[in-house]
This record gives sequence, C-alpha cells and structure tokens, in this order.
Amino acid sequence: MTESRIARVAANEREVEVYWSDGAPPANFPAFWLRDHCRAAHSFHPETQQRQIDTVAIPSEIAVRSAEATPGGDALRVTWSTEEQESFYPADFLKTAAGTPGSQGPERAAWARSDWADGAWPAGRYGAIMEDDREGLAPWLEKLERHGFAFAEEAPATPEATEAFANRIGGYIRRSIFGAFWDFTANLAYKDTAYTTLAIGPHTDGTYSFDPPGYQMFHCLEFEGEGGESTLVDGFKIAERLRAEQPELFEVLTSVEVPAQYIGDGAHLMARHRIIELDAGGQPRRIAYNNYDRAPFFTTAREMEAFYAGIKAFDRLANDPEMEIEFALRPGTILVFDNWRLLHGRRAYSGKRRLAGAYLNKEDVESKLRTLHA
Ligand code: OGA
Ligand code: ZN
Repeated sequence: MTESRIARVAANEREVEVYWSDGAPPANFPAFWLRDHCRAAHSFHPETQQRQIDTVAIPSEIAVRSAEATPGGDALRVTWSTEEQESFYPADFLKTAAGTPGSQGPERAAWARSDWADGAWPAGRYGAIMEDDREGLAPWLEKLERHGFAFAEEAPATPEATEAFANRIGGYIRRSIFGAFWDFTANLAYKDTAYTTLAIGPHTDGTYSFDPPGYQMFHCLEFEGEGGESTLVDGFKIAERLRAEQPELFEVLTSVEVPAQYIGDGAHLMARHRIIELDAGGQPRRIAYNNYDRAPFFTTAREMEAFYAGIKAFDRLANDPEMEIEFALRPGTILVFDNWRLLHGRRAYSGKRRLAGAYLNKEDVESKLRTLHA
C-alpha cells in the first residue's frame, strides 16, 4: 500500500482541509466527521478496530481549536475547543476515506460478447492461485471482481482439489438447501432442473434467498456426451442497454419486487427481489432473474402487463447471441462467476455429465481480496 503524506493543513472551527504531498486534490473534512472518526485509542479500539466514541454524544457545535500535520506528514493531529482529548489520524486513513465517497468496490466494466476476442476470457492457473497470494490469487480475484467471471485452468479434476479451490477464494463454502460442496450427475437428487439433462435458460441462482449466493463455482469433473455448453451474460450490460433503449421497462424492472420460491427437499423458501436492483447512486447492485423459481404474484392488470413486457425485454437481451458468451465446461477448468451480476445457462445435453461446485458468499470473496490488499 502507498504511504500517503500530508503536505499542509488549513483549518477553521468547522472543517479541516488536507493537502497531499503527491498533489492529489485536497480533501475537506468536517469537524463532526473528524471527531466521529478519531483514530486515537480513546475513540477507536486499536485491537478490535471498532468505534469507541459515542457518536450521538458529540456536541453538534463541536469546534476545531487547532489542526496540524505531524512532522513528516504521516498523520494529522486535531485539538478541540469543546473537549480536552486530542484526536489523531494516520494520513493513509484520511486519504482512503476521502477517496471512497458513497458506493465502494472495484470498477466493473459491463461487457458484451464483442468485448472479448475468442476465448480470451479472464483466467489464471490453478496452481498459482492456490499457492501464491500476491502473484496468483490477488490478480485472479481482481479479474473476477472486475469482469464478473474468471476461469482457473490446469486444475486437478477431483472433488478434493475443487473443494480446496472454493475454500481458498471464499475462506469457506456457503451451505444451502443443496448442501455445501456439490458433486452431482443428472439424477434428480434435488427437485431442481440442474439435476436433469434439460436446457437451462439464463438465470441467477437463489432468487428465493434473502441473500442470493454472491459467487458460484462450477467444475465439470466428467463429460461424455453431446451438448451441455454453458453460457454467461452480463446482467449489468442488460441493465445498461435497457436503461438507454427502453427506459419505461427499465423503470418496471428496477421497481417491481418479484417473489421467488423453492419448494421441495423439506424446504419452502421465499424471498422478493427487484430484477435489477440499483444502489443509492442509481448503479446496478444486483440482478435477480430466475423465471423457473418465480412465485405466483398478482397486482393490477396494468402493472402485470408492464411486468410481462419488462421480463420479455430482459429475457430477449439475456438470450441475445451478441450479449452472451458460450463455452464447454471440461475437466481441468474451474469457472467462478458473480451471481449478483452475471446470468448463467446451460444447453441441453445427452450422455453423462458430472458437475461439482459450490456457492460462496459475496462478502467472503470481497473480504479475501481486501485482506490480500491490506
Ligand atoms: C444450476 C445451473 C448449470 C449447469 O445448477 O443452477 O445453472 O451447467 N447449472 O448444470
Ligand atoms: Zn443456476
């Protein structure tokens, strides 16, 4: 991580302006924010990294008495007219805080098929990802976050190596109605189309969960037959196009809460999601689209008509050959994709296909990448 330095500070009672020695734009910190984010041990526990200051007890008229950079510029010291304790802030902390207004996370450029030269998809080598944090895992996870999918090549075609991979990138596997690590053939072990040889159109998994799985991993351990190719489509690209081309349907898909359910195997799960969920900044946060698992719902005739027009438009783009990529999963190549962003599908097949995989929580994969960057 780069060491930030403070070149100069300008302050009045209500705010502190910090100038950086690398010439980055200065950042303006309000007095109340500074008191709330004080990193001194009296306000922020150095071991638990949790806030100790009672924010609501900070007086609204909190006033800066003095603010200065430490010699060398690696921290800021602030004293207050309204209390005796001094506050302290590492320069890196302030620089990072000032650089992340609103939504965080990596840059995610939405893609269509033409954005990829044939087969030049994000990938890394299994061995490097498993063994090397800096050169293997970190760059691979960055690709995964940026593009929403990545392959790991030259993987041993065993359930053990596959399960170890899931644990490596997520810390642990998410349990669900399907168990933790799956390794299955078309045997209808669970009451789900995945356990048949039927085609599965583009969808996201777990729309019936309040927290749909953030990532999904597939490793085809055996294949002897015809068909069964996999597809991926960037749901954020679908959102981008709908917003531009059919704004009235985009409005429907970002507002109607669609119920979904899973019935079987001793469970009846239900949840509701918008097909395109936006964050407070109006950017897509999550796609939740699964026509198989949609539960009955009914509103006014006019609203239902708008809803069906919305999913027709969405589904048309999800199945547009210009939007999707297609490939055959084969032993030795693990696929991981962002289930909050990409839709996945599978063509029908004949013969024998053994698929292993797992769900990972969104937060665990993001956490892994943050710890590697720390
Ligand atoms: C699924 C699924 C795809 C496949 O399990 O939800 O989409 O390739 N499976 O079997
Ligand atoms: Zn699926």
